[in-house]
Amino acid sequence: MSIRPILFENGILKMIDQRRLPTEELWLEYTEYRGVAEAIRSMVVRGAPAIGVAAAFGAAFGARDVAADDFETFWPTFEEVCAHLAATRPTAVNLFWALDRMKAYARANRNLPLDELKLRLLDEAAAIAQEDDRINRTMGRFGEPLIPQEARVLTHCNAGALATGGYGTALGVIRAAVEAGKKVAVLADETRPFLQGSRLTAWELARDNIPVTLICDNMAGYLMSKGEIDCVIVGADRIAANGDVANKIGTYTVAVLAKEHGLPFYVAAPISTIDFSIPDGSHIPIEERDAREVTHSGDRRMAPEGIAVRNPAFDVTPARLVSAIITERGVVQGDYLQGLKELLGNK
Ligand code: MRU
Repeated sequence: MSIRPILFENGILKMIDQRRLPTEELWLEYTEYRGVAEAIRSMVVRGAPAIGVAAAFGAAFGARDVAADDFETFWPTFEEVCAHLAATRPTAVNLFWALDRMKAYARANRNLPLDELKLRLLDEAAAIAQEDDRINRTMGRFGEPLIPQEARVLTHCNAGALATGGYGTALGVIRAAVEAGKKVAVLADETRPFLQGSRLTAWELARDNIPVTLICDNMAGYLMSKGEIDCVIVGADRIAANGDVANKIGTYTVAVLAKEHGLPFYVAAPISTIDFSIPDGSHIPIEERDAREVTHSGDRRMAPEGIAVRNPAFDVTPARLVSAIITERGVVQGDYLQGLKELLGNK
């Protein structure tokens, strides 16, 4: 049973504090939208689909607290709530997808009594969370055949249960392969600077008794050259119409290495991660995070005071380096523009 990082119980949103893992399993509770927004910004909750789920609950809390008598006075304040949530992190499109879905739901049900609409928005957020878990299991079934009977699989960042409503995208495919009886051993890149690989991927796979070996990011090339990696699978924060993939910083490096060594490089992501409004990856906004993540390890300074730092949190892997994109509607290979469009048509 993989963990679910976001629970909604008795009107309270509970999220495991992912900043504290793996040393502490602390659950934080939220009942209003500003708190949820801060949780997304500060990475209590992270991972593209999980950010979307949290934002949907934030929007529902915000809607509940709007003092209005009718939809016309409710709507502008609800839009402000959604804008506040949308301003937390720029790259993962699932955040905007979830907020758009909540707004569309509100508009479509504008004729309901406002109290009823507010309750239904909470149900809609809960539906997004449940659907995400289901979607990942379906994605796992589609992706599992790509994993050999015996495989050493490299992954980068955390695209697991912790990053989603449950089960995971890239790690969901790995879980499905394990459930299918395959002998899978995972290599987890530590994923500097925020260490989602060592803190989160290693934690959740070890918890599920899936063999996992931690490596530093700069070891992947050596291990590939020694024949110790069979394929790579990662998640995504945003996929452009042409199949270019934004994911955690360092993903592009791994994709280039995989190409050089003739290894398949797979991306697993739900349809909600595909952004058809942008033609290619150059249009994806890349979040720049605090220099302190690079200069410090916890409270300890690891670099000279005042040193210039860059800290882009994501990079873009060109579609030509991607062997397949695995979604809940099937696997796309080759012509991504056409293939993704067809998937989207098959709703
Ligand atoms: O900065 P994060 O931890 O939110 O970044 C997460 C990633 O890059 C994941 O690989 C991506 O969101 C896919 S999660 C299923």
